[in-house]
Amino acid sequence: MNHILYVKNAAQVVTMKGSKEPRAGQSMKDLGLIEHGSVVVKDGIIAFVGTDQEAMDYLKNDKKEDIKTIDASGKLVTPGLIDPHTHLVYAGSRENELEMRLKGATYIEIHKQGGGILSTMAETRKASEETLFDQSAERLDKFIKHGVTTVEAKSGYGLNVKDELKQLHVAKQLNERHPVDVVSTFMGAHAVPVEFKEDPEGYIDLLIKELLPRVAKDKLAEFCDVFCEDGVFTLEQSERILNAGIEYGLKPKIHADEIEAFGGAELAAKLEAVSADHLLKASDQGIQDMANKKVIATLLPGTAFFLMTTPARARRMIDSGMAVALATDCNPGSSPTESLLLVMNLACLTMGMTPEEVITACTINAAHAIDKADTIGSLEVGKQADLVLFDAKNYQILQYNYGVNLVQTVIKKGQVLVQ
Ligand code: NIG
Ligand code: FE
Repeated sequence: MNHILYVKNAAQVVTMKGSKEPRAGQSMKDLGLIEHGSVVVKDGIIAFVGTDQEAMDYLKNDKKEDIKTIDASGKLVTPGLIDPHTHLVYAGSRENELEMRLKGATYIEIHKQGGGILSTMAETRKASEETLFDQSAERLDKFIKHGVTTVEAKSGYGLNVKDELKQLHVAKQLNERHPVDVVSTFMGAHAVPVEFKEDPEGYIDLLIKELLPRVAKDKLAEFCDVFCEDGVFTLEQSERILNAGIEYGLKPKIHADEIEAFGGAELAAKLEAVSADHLLKASDQGIQDMANKKVIATLLPGTAFFLMTTPARARRMIDSGMAVALATDCNPGSSPTESLLLVMNLACLTMGMTPEEVITACTINAAHAIDKADTIGSLEVGKQADLVLFDAKNYQILQYNYGVNLVQTVIKKGQVLVQ
């Protein structure tokens, strides 16, 4: 059995090396590029990264039969892509809402009429753990085909004790049984369920007093997230829930300023959240506050595209010194896609992010946004061997030849998954 994998002589290797901190502002442009580069993997871990000349020297004492070689000439090699914001585990689909929106209804109107998140909640409550597992595993298969080797996954379609725990168990099972790594976020505060319509404070009590302790005790999530928006959870409620999460060891994330300038960005800064996500309507002050407190902006241009609205001000954020990550927001209502590649195209073409910034946002900055930069997000010796080979002679092609899946080979923990 060959236990050495030799990815040989790529036209370009994007290493993202030396990124212990998230790459903010100007430093998002530095890809740590190697021309004619090679990567050597031993037992699932990166053992060498450098030019092919150096690689041949590095391997000169290894036996030929121990080495499996992948010829990467003319190709681009990057770290496995990371999606730091998804609602992966859900049942059903909501294509009917696209039609409603095309006729003029807004996302929040549909939500307030009991559709939207609440209709997926009903489907998710009805589904068995097996059904949820199977439907979500199919989504992960699509993610891999688009070069994604790690995803974050939020709960928030159960909205009661039993079904929130069910969703989180499914995410845990997926992490254990599917090749893609799944990092869990508890998002019981995704919406107020119908049974608490007249008593939202009662629901928040349930989240804080019953659910959070269970989630923490069973180690079912690393992060806590809240949909902080007019008509969903107020600033004060969001702060209370996220602070309760912090007490139980869950790091804060926040769906902020997606539909209104609601003060979510300012709250993210105040709580020093790991990331603030969406941020379509984030204020100038909010952006400055987040930059000062080193909050990562996780932007979701696919959601803006699918909701037919103006995307976040990525340029202002990066030029203010923020670190930006990108994600699909994969969910049945506002972004039904597993194509992080299309999201990358949209980031470039609708938000003015450069091809370098886009790659940084989907590799090392995305790793930081889920607090996993010590093991993934760059091609450096000692890190997990998650790599993608693209049928592209340079990294710019990924944004130029848009809407096309250029993924040729995906390697996860040294295993070749898609070829
Ligand atoms: O991130 N904004 C809130 N939550 C999701 C949408 C969930 C849904 O519509 O089912 C989002 O866009
Ligand atoms: Fe989301």
